[in-house]
Amino acid sequence: PQGQTKKLRQPIVVVLGHVDHGKTSLLDKIRSTAIAAREAGGITQHIGASIVPSAVIEKISEPLKKIVPIKLAIPGLLFIDTPGHELFSNLRKRGGSIADFAILVIDVTKGLQDQTFEAIDLLKSRKVPFLIAANKIDRLPGWESNPDQPFVVSYQNQSRRAKEELERVIYGIIVTKFSELGFQTELYTKIKDFTKTVAIVPVSAKTGEGIPDLLAVLAGLTQQYLKNRLIFAEGPAKGSVLEVKEAEGLGTVIDTIIYDGIIRVGDIIVLNGKNGPIITNVRSLLMPAPLSDLRAKGTRFVNVSEVYAAAGVRIAAPDLENALAGSSIYVANSVEEANELSKTLQSEVKELIFKADKDGIIIKADTLGTLEALIEAFKRMNIPIRVADIGNISKSDVLEASLTAKKNRSLGVIIAFNVKILPEAEAELANSNVKVIQNNIIYHLIEEYENWSENLKR
Ligand code: GTP
Ligand code: MG
Ligand code: NA
Repeated sequence: PQGQTKKLRQPIVVVLGHVDHGKTSLLDKIRSTAIAAREAGGITQHIGASIVPSAVIEKISEPLKKIVPIKLAIPGLLFIDTPGHELFSNLRKRGGSIADFAILVIDVTKGLQDQTFEAIDLLKSRKVPFLIAANKIDRLPGWESNPDQPFVVSYQNQSRRAKEELERVIYGIIVTKFSELGFQTELYTKIKDFTKTVAIVPVSAKTGEGIPDLLAVLAGLTQQYLKNRLIFAEGPAKGSVLEVKEAEGLGTVIDTIIYDGIIRVGDIIVLNGKNGPIITNVRSLLMPAPLSDLRAKGTRFVNVSEVYAAAGVRIAAPDLENALAGSSIYVANSVEEANELSKTLQSEVKELIFKADKDGIIIKADTLGTLEALIEAFKRMNIPIRVADIGNISKSDVLEASLTAKKNRSLGVIIAFNVKILPEAEAELANSNVKVIQNNIIYHLIEEYENWSENLKR
């Protein structure tokens, strides 16, 4: 498969930034995909992973060859998309913790906002090197679009007014704010020492302007400064489960990001399951076609015998029916080691999946990440939680909720994020006074709950 024989692994590049500043759109432009347009509520609510091979990076940044000459030794870049919505700080942290490098996306029409600052704190505390993509330059007053052109080329074609508008944002806002935060930043074309100064690359995810520059700077920086980090690690794989799903002919499979080590067909893997840790053997490994998002529908896969980090990979194995999306996943060298690892894994879910013996709402979500975000949201509102769990709404969820509803109507509710109601639960619901609030947009769920409980008081 792509690049697996070369010496350096692909750097993991995490895309961070405030909600709607254009993270997913930027990746869409690079991959020629349209993920952002299909997201529920226009927001990202899960982590995404996609590989951009070196050949594509070289092709896109070709026009810049004279200015930023790079010979690519890395096989490509593994991009991790993260949600910007404030409730998903858990997913941003997760992304930040596996990042070799980050792109901090800032909307030039908005400047730094709450989750921009949160991302800067995260990058600072984890010591993750990053660059700033100053996005949406097409929306600067007076900006003339030069689709897909390098920023350096497009900039030369701009009026004095547009140039001044860009300078105002870059120096008046970005450079000033970052210096207050202890970072030296500068337009990438003016930087002499990239180890001391954070590069600002003006881009437009809409017109493609600046994308050549972004990729050239990114590839150059990661392979030049992270070389030692990028030597293939020979150890057993560590990863993260993004999604659990049914795949035709394969049964239940898991889509994962492998961020460290190697995973091979036949390896023992350990991950969290609904009824405790799962220890099983890899039956097959499937790599998504380059440039496709692992999570996207219609992604094509290729069977491989081994996968080196960093990669997004689909794993088929027995006993994955109860696997938990959002769990860590490890390759173990022996069954004893697998048992040891399963103890570490258990602590990961303990606070998240629970059934308390008190009156409270029921929360059902599709992944550990979204469950965590919802628990956090309802805790902030001081709403007690009886059950927090992953998966579809079951009959027992309805029975639990109806017990509560009899004592306290406003807590007799099931909050369901991106999950279905099982048929036997439907039947039970019909003769209960349990309220189900079902939505696949997190802030709508919370708003709907607030409205419903307010109405009860009237
Ligand atoms: P979250 O994942 O929800 O945090 O958002 P995001 O950062 O991924 O932003 P997204 O890609 O969803 O874009 C938000 C909106 O901005 C969409 O309507 C995009 O079409 C628009 N947008 C993104 N980049 C650009 C840009 O460069 N120019 C213009 N004009 N619009 C953009
Ligand atoms: Mg997004
Ligand atoms: Na968005």
